[in-house]
Amino acid sequence: MKQKILVAGGTGYIGSHTTVELQHAGYEVVIIDDLSNSNRDVLDGIEKITGIRPDFIELDLKDKEGTREALKAHPGIKGIILFAASKAVGESVQQPLKYYRNNIVTLLNLLDLMPEFGIEGIVFSSSCTVYGQPDELPVTENAPIKPATSPYGNTKQINEEIICDTIHAGAPFKSILLRYFNPIGAHPSAEIGELPNGVPQNLIPYLTQTAIGIRKELSVFGNDYDTPDGSCIRDYINVVDLAKAHVIAMDRMLENKSDDRVEVFNLGTGRGVTVLELINTFEKGTGVKVPHKIVGRREGDIEKVWANPEKANQVLGWTAKETLEDTLVSAWNWQKKLRERGIQ
Ligand code: WQD
Repeated sequence: MKQKILVAGGTGYIGSHTTVELQHAGYEVVIIDDLSNSNRDVLDGIEKITGIRPDFIELDLKDKEGTREALKAHPGIKGIILFAASKAVGESVQQPLKYYRNNIVTLLNLLDLMPEFGIEGIVFSSSCTVYGQPDELPVTENAPIKPATSPYGNTKQINEEIICDTIHAGAPFKSILLRYFNPIGAHPSAEIGELPNGVPQNLIPYLTQTAIGIRKELSVFGNDYDTPDGSCIRDYINVVDLAKAHVIAMDRMLENKSDDRVEVFNLGTGRGVTVLELINTFEKGTGVKVPHKIVGRREGDIEKVWANPEKANQVLGWTAKETLEDTLVSAWNWQKKLRERGIQ
């Protein structure tokens, strides 16, 4: 058995898929999650896939003493992957204090406690939103960080700076910052997937809920952008491919493969896809039509962004492998499984 890892936010969408891949790689996983945007049933799904039920503590990581007690109760943790955060861009504009408090205090508590428990590294779940609308595409890790267009995006920038400053000041741990593009899809087993609360804000859950009939019609936010078909471009990355990158990052950190105490990697496919292209790919892959209409632009949307993933490809030895079509089919299979279970 490899080292013990804390996955903070591990019952969430990306956290649960990463827990599966960590377990497949031989890591022992402890999950802390406050279940504010996920469900304890996810633990059943993880166990069905790997045969191993991760230790789970329901806890709000803003509770520093509670977090200290949890770390005492689970000695030997060597690394942390921090997913736990509020992540709805639109909601963050309406409730900035909730986002600054939740996303920043959580990180501060973990960084404070890591030296007390000999925790050697933290992988941080960051986002391509730190780049805003890049001046050059595809975007590399050296692209300038642009003023955030939402409190959510600002917390990602602030958290990256907090980690860098803390390590620069001599903290006895390392960090790898992973800047995701647009994670989509579900585990091929359809035992875990994205399960948004209420009306989905992100494209894929809304699309699959429209395809299955929960939603009447998908609104495409604008077709007057400077793109081939006028709709926005994103770099959609399969969530399992993304999860595998976290295992490689954790290995790299704990095996001290780099002299750099902080490293940054873009995790994307390197391919930009428009919203309309994505809808067509979904319909082609599943044979299911998605009723949709063009509406006005959504405030705050970036026109086009996709990754240059060469650094992750060459330094981490990681490449996104799943096709967009297969990934969209996995999202559809998950939506059908939710229907079978009577969940949606
Ligand atoms: C994708 C594209 C929309 C919904 C955000 C965060 C990012 C990450 C993912 C948390 C855009 C269009 C969407 C709809 C649409 N956050 N769209 N109709 O905004 O690229 O990224 O969510 O993990 O950090 O910034 O993702 O899925 O909301 O939108 O036309 O009903 O789909 O305009 O072009 P986004 P998204």
